[in-house]
Amino acid sequence: MTLLAVESLRVAYGDLTAVHDISFSVEPGEIFVLLGANGAGKTSVLRAISGLLKPTRGTLNSEGVSLLGLRPDQVAHLGIAHVPEGRRIFPNLTAEENLDVSFIRQRSKETLAQLRDRVYGIFPRLASRRRQTANTMSGGEQQMLAIGRALMNTPKLLMLDEPSLGLSPLMTELMFEQLARIRDQGASILLVEQNASCIDMATRGLLLANGHTMLSGDHAKLRDSDFVRRAYLGV
Ligand SMILES: Nc1ncnc2c1ncn2[C@@H]1O[C@H](COP(=O)(O)OP(=O)(O)O)[C@@H](O)[C@H]1O
Ligand SMILES: [Mg+2]
Repeated sequence: MTLLAVESLRVAYGDLTAVHDISFSVEPGEIFVLLGANGAGKTSVLRAISGLLKPTRGTLNSEGVSLLGLRPDQVAHLGIAHVPEGRRIFPNLTAEENLDVSFIRQRSKETLAQLRDRVYGIFPRLASRRRQTANTMSGGEQQMLAIGRALMNTPKLLMLDEPSLGLSPLMTELMFEQLARIRDQGASILLVEQNASCIDMATRGLLLANGHTMLSGDHAKLRDSDFVRRAYLGV
């Protein structure tokens, strides 16, 4: 069943319409990318799905259940996790404490220790940093920790807002590989990025510009489009 169905979504801030009637869906096992420059409306889409913003129009459904009117904690309880821009980890807690405080017992069949081990399996660097306070870790490690925190609740849909921001190309590549592993272990991913190098690992995606859909399709269509080539890949 469709994990996330977004239909004619419109988001406005007062008189400013930030997202104009966009539609897309995320199916189980997918990595779907929402690409666009700064101000395109990407974060607004994620915030609407998470229940942080009320859309002015449109519908949002997950496996047949409407997300409209749900609070952020209720959306999270359905298994939709949101890793926001800027990471939001607890800087003065250790890596492991950051994982532990994210665990919601009611949602999980697995124990805290089992979930931690799964996170450490995906991000071995976090295992070696487990006793270190988060603010002493590198940007890449902090991003892994933010993703690890979301994984502590075994989401069925993991939404990430520009996880590559501020990371080196090498660290970005590593993080994208780790996202592919998370997908292989059963979560679907909705990835928001300005960085077009994520197109290769995506199944499908959508390109947003000024809140409008410029293009949507499978990864070959995105990669080969003139718009993406000119705007992102510099060719
Ligand atoms: N809280 C807000 N109040 C008013 N305007 C906002 C707010 N948040 C975002 N916007 C505007 O909405 C548009 C889309 O922003 P955003 O969704 O953050 O885009 P992106 O994540 O793609 O950079 C921009 O024009 C931005 O200035
Ligand atoms: Mg944003």
